[in-house]
Amino acid sequence: MFSFFVFFLLSLTAATAGTLRAGVAKVNATLPVGVPLAGYNHGERRVKYWPLPDPKQYTNFMTPSVGHLQTTWAKALLLDNGNTTFCFLTVDAIGADGTLRKLAWEKAAARGFTVPFDRFTVHGSHTHSGPGAVTPELLWSLAPATDILVPELQDMLASSLADAMLQAQANLQPAKMGINFGQLVGVTENRRADISPYVQVGSIDPHLGVIRVDRSSDGTPLATVWNFAIHGTCWGPDQMLSNGDIMGGACDAIETAVGHQSVAMFINADAGDIAPAGSACAGKPNYAGAPVIASAVQRLRDDTPVTSDDVGLVSASTVVDFGETQGNLTLARVANCTQGGPLDICSLCRVLRCDVNLHLDSAWIEESPTFTALNISIGGNHTLMVTVPGEALLELGWNIRNDSLKLGFTNTLLAGYSNNHMGYFATPDEYEVGGYEGLLTMWGIDTAEKVRQSCRAVAEKVSK
Ligand SMILES: *[C@@H]1O[C@H](CO)[C@@H](O)[C@H](O)[C@H]1NC(C)=O
Ligand SMILES: *[C@@H]1O[C@H](CO)[C@@H](O)[C@H](O)[C@H]1NC(C)=O
Ligand SMILES: *[C@@H]1O[C@H](CO)[C@@H](O)[C@H](O)[C@H]1NC(C)=O
Ligand SMILES: *[C@@H]1O[C@H](CO)[C@@H](O)[C@H](O)[C@H]1NC(C)=O
Ligand SMILES: *[C@@H]1O[C@H](CO)[C@@H](O)[C@H](O)[C@H]1NC(C)=O
Ligand SMILES: *[C@@H]1O[C@H](CO)[C@@H](O)[C@H](O)[C@H]1NC(C)=O
Ligand SMILES: *[C@@H]1O[C@H](CO)[C@@H](O)[C@H](O)[C@H]1NC(C)=O
Repeated sequence: MFSFFVFFLLSLTAATAGTLRAGVAKVNATLPVGVPLAGYNHGERRVKYWPLPDPKQYTNFMTPSVGHLQTTWAKALLLDNGNTTFCFLTVDAIGADGTLRKLAWEKAAARGFTVPFDRFTVHGSHTHSGPGAVTPELLWSLAPATDILVPELQDMLASSLADAMLQAQANLQPAKMGINFGQLVGVTENRRADISPYVQVGSIDPHLGVIRVDRSSDGTPLATVWNFAIHGTCWGPDQMLSNGDIMGGACDAIETAVGHQSVAMFINADAGDIAPAGSACAGKPNYAGAPVIASAVQRLRDDTPVTSDDVGLVSASTVVDFGETQGNLTLARVANCTQGGPLDICSLCRVLRCDVNLHLDSAWIEESPTFTALNISIGGNHTLMVTVPGEALLELGWNIRNDSLKLGFTNTLLAGYSNNHMGYFATPDEYEVGGYEGLLTMWGIDTAEKVRQSCRAVAEKVSK
């Protein structure tokens, strides 16, 4: 009786420790030729005349794309430690969108996907040459020029995301996982250096985080997730072929370098003011920076201190109501505007004599974002993955990382462009300076602080 009880206890321990299973999938999510490309509203992208050239079935005021340069992907990584499941989904797109996230999950759930909605995160890579016409948010139809929603396209993209989720679930297998962190410099630069006194060209976020997932059966690589801050702007507004920009090129290079048909997934960080360096974009579409990123990622992958099948996963998700926007477009506010640039609100406002506070409702922009936190425990270290629903500028990124350390986490995977997209999050300094990122910070001077507090609150839920 006693020995049976001990045996029972031991087998319980064995069942809870060392039971990680992981599944990964990569699905071609390229939309048809002729869709508008999301990212810029000028150059070749914006129509110069009506009627629109053919094929025009997907666009209203943007020029139809004319082909594919690189495949745009949906990739899913599902983790199951025997107690908790969690699914990361990355997509080559300008951002994440809450409507698309919900639609994709509903489609997958209807076909047998078992990960709950609040343990499923969507991460947009921020390529500026990915699919448009897939979001109902009117501001995004206009500003980064995704064009008006075409439900048929949104449905196609959501189906690809659902396919990736279901394939990852079907591919679940015993796995080991590790996390490593390092720094990567030389491939990015700060794009506000010429307008902001607070940053220089070299003010970047060098943090490079890598999640390594290997098959338990033979130790071969299954997935590589990399987390870094970089804008997907190697191509400009004259690129009319869909592609995943430099992060797509880097994922391809990582998959080649790591081998074994493993999947590389990218989660962007606080890239609001961080552009790819010209030298990193050189040679595009064979981006000179792609192998540089790939070798830094591979080195971190290889040097991961511990890979284990005993992985703690604790997650939490909170919906935060930001309310209608507090966009300040008074002439006083736009006084510091630099003219030109991708969205020249400044010149427009001078012409229109804007003197308004812009209160946009949820038809224009998402106002109730989902913040998700995941505490990943491996070998005594606790890593926080926390989502940010848009484009954090560098300083906010540091704030969130510092808060995470204070909560006792060893390190942070900062997941920007995730779950929802609410524009830029400029800290008060940068908000005052203005410029494109400052003006597209939609909830006033306290926007970044609201985001920071929301990240901290959800992180607290997964910390002891
Ligand atoms: C992905 O789909 C597009 C459109 O059908 C196609 O052109 C492209 O070759 C596909 N990519 C791969 C890697 O099969
Ligand atoms: C198991 O999962 C539940 C929620 O799904 C969570 O509250 C609990 O902390 C988890 N236990 C462990 C040991 O991770
Ligand atoms: C708008 O910005 C101007 C200039 O910074 C400022 O004086 C004014 O108080 C702001 N208005 C609101 C409602 O925030
Ligand atoms: C834990 O984190 C520290 C600091 O980043 C690192 O030196 C150590 O190798 C990590 N250990 C594991 C098991 O990941
Ligand atoms: C974050 O912490 C680092 C190290 O303590 C410090 O140098 C930096 O100023 C902090 N940054 C912010 C934005 O709080
Ligand atoms: C313009 O920029 C200066 C210097 O950065 C700053 O002190 C001032 O507050 C800004 N004015 C507005 C209206 O943003
Ligand atoms: C993360 O979760 C583990 C349980 O899996 C817990 O022991 C640990 O304290 C948490 N980490 C932090 C920093 O709170």
